[in-house]
Amino acid sequence: MAEQRFPNLHVLKHPLVQHKLTELRDKSCSKKDFNELVREISLLLVYEATQDLALTTRSVDTPLTTFEAPVLAGKKPVIVPILRAGIGMVDAFLTLMPLARVGHVGMFRDEKTLEPQTYYFKLPPNSENRPIFVCDPMLATGGSAVAALKKLKEAGLTNITFVCLVAAPEGVQHFFEAFPDVPMYTASLDQGLNDQSYIVPGLGDAGDRLFGTK
Ligand code: PRP
Ligand code: URA
Repeated sequence: MAEQRFPNLHVLKHPLVQHKLTELRDKSCSKKDFNELVREISLLLVYEATQDLALTTRSVDTPLTTFEAPVLAGKKPVIVPILRAGIGMVDAFLTLMPLARVGHVGMFRDEKTLEPQTYYFKLPPNSENRPIFVCDPMLATGGSAVAALKKLKEAGLTNITFVCLVAAPEGVQHFFEAFPDVPMYTASLDQGLNDQSYIVPGLGDAGDRLFGTK
């Protein structure tokens, strides 16, 4: 069991997540449905991935009484999609945390070398004091996620959580070798990579299916 080897790996077993993921994998899923399903699965992942956000209290007047009620503590979180495909998950984060800030890491996988290339990096001010949620639908070799997290760590960020829809065992191994303390939330741990480092069974190229570029 991968979750026993990697205590910070969280694979969501929820029936709604699994059902929606099957619809997403289907190659006949339309671009519109693909985008909606990415958002819906991401909502359920965000719910799980935010379970350790700190709480404080504030006084609230209900129609019956005044009491100290729980509210989120500290600075607003930062959502960091790995471009492009991570953009498809941002709306789900903002639906549940509308005041969260958004940073961007532009990263593509060189199709020949499979090495991640950074082409954009922009964070909100004071991100180092905020909870960071990095999102990307796919963790294949793990190269993009590891490179993105290295840049975020170099920028001084510490409180990082990674959220993806589908992960390959090879990527999970690579990720936790580099960042054993970073929690990862995913909807599926798939079988593995094919000879072009696509996830199998996977769902194909997430960016192309989200944006209709193929
Ligand atoms: C995809 C995906 C991840 C990366 C995963 O992006 O969204 O960022 O590949 O592969 P890895 O784990 O082997 O690095 P891609 O490079 O295709 O760019 P795109 O999002 O612009 O389509
Ligand atoms: N990137 C994708 O979009 N899909 C994969 O299966 C692997 C990398």
